[in-house]
Amino acid sequence: MNPQEAIARLTREMIHYDGGDAKRIQHFIKVHNFARTIGLSEGIDEEQLYVLEAAAILHDVGIHAAEAKYGNCHGKHQEELGPEEARKVLAEVEGFTGEQKERICWLIAHHHTYTNVTSADHRILLEADFLVNSFEDNLSQEGIITFRNQVFRSASAISILNDMWNLQ
Ligand SMILES: [Fe+2]
Repeated sequence: MNPQEAIARLTREMIHYDGGDAKRIQHFIKVHNFARTIGLSEGIDEEQLYVLEAAAILHDVGIHAAEAKYGNCHGKHQEELGPEEARKVLAEVEGFTGEQKERICWLIAHHHTYTNVTSADHRILLEADFLVNSFEDNLSQEGIITFRNQVFRSASAISILNDMWNLQ
């Protein structure tokens, strides 16, 4: 199976997993597209892009489990419960090696971790998620600029955020 096909199958599997929750489906579709666009713009290699795309599709997979266990979906609960849920979805899709699944789960377990961000895939996942959340959560311009300055590093992600909100 070629990578594009595996990503399409994973997308459909995740839509099925999130069945009935159109809002979450719309969310991860957007995060995936931004992550892919930034990854390609930054010139990360094919292997890293593949894992990043899968992580972007699955990144919020722990939300329902966190709500069920803790009654809320705080980032840290999602990070704790996401990997196990991600493995269930990945088990239904061919095309990912054990090593790739490990990295995807690591990224999911760190998608609300904003310190010690040293790898491109981690950075881009945070940027892509925020590009969507800055809109979906109606954040203030001040909040958007603060987050950009603290977390954003990829030139393409900064450019997209600035274009989206007419920032300097
Ligand atoms: Fe998200």
